[in-house]
Amino acid sequence: MENTNNINNNSNENLPIISGELDLSINRFNANENFYKMAFQFQQIMMIYESAVKQIETKLEILNKENKVRRQRNPIETVKSRIKSPDSIAKKLEKKNLPVTFDSMMTNLSDIAGVRVICPYISDIYTVKEMLIKQPDITLVAENDYIENPKESGYRSLHLVVEVPVYLSKTAHNVRVEIQLRTIAMDFWASLEHELRYKTTTKVPDSVRRELFRAAETIAMTDRQMEEIAIELQQLD
Ligand code: GTP
Ligand code: MG
Repeated sequence: MENTNNINNNSNENLPIISGELDLSINRFNANENFYKMAFQFQQIMMIYESAVKQIETKLEILNKENKVRRQRNPIETVKSRIKSPDSIAKKLEKKNLPVTFDSMMTNLSDIAGVRVICPYISDIYTVKEMLIKQPDITLVAENDYIENPKESGYRSLHLVVEVPVYLSKTAHNVRVEIQLRTIAMDFWASLEHELRYKTTTKVPDSVRRELFRAAETIAMTDRQMEEIAIELQQLD
């Protein structure tokens, strides 16, 4: 991750690291002779990442239910998750001039497991973050606040990289998961902007870029207004 503030690099101290437990010596260039072995290893690794995503999803679901019971409203609107495809893993490693091996992907990529949390209000984003990272089995590895510091494109979201333990029959693994938290409006913008960016084979013209940036600013203003209205309404109770 670029521009990442590394918060904790020693989080693997208590559990064996994933690469220490699996044979990851094979890379994709001798794939033919080792095809089945490699496919099995990849399946094992992906199963571990899927389990990590499940852990995070379950934690979020529990927090949402608890808040609903206590406060009569959900701080989370939707949770979406995905595991990076083998193709995009390889492409990303190649782009970064890194070896295309299992070991390299687990060491160098933080977004193989990705969870996106969509919240109604900006304050919900920080509430969800705090509730999640204070859990003792969650380690915050990195944080990028693109709400406080939006990207040049206008993109806003809170990005976290956390580590969560996955317990198997014989081994335990600390697995990194990238969590993107954003409002419904920010998600609308990001989805549309992403779609537009990949739709065109040619470069997006500057005028369109500027228009998208302005839309992001408008959305940010609306998000703040909605929050103020919600607070005013709460005070009426
Ligand atoms: P990547 O190599 O893309 O992972 O960049 P990075 O490691 O520097 O991470 P970054 O914090 O930039 O976040 C990457 C992810 O955030 C992307 O995969 C997108 O999902 C999202 N993202 C970041 N910038 C933008 C943007 O300008 N527009 C949209 N739509 N999404 C963005
Ligand atoms: Mg990334």
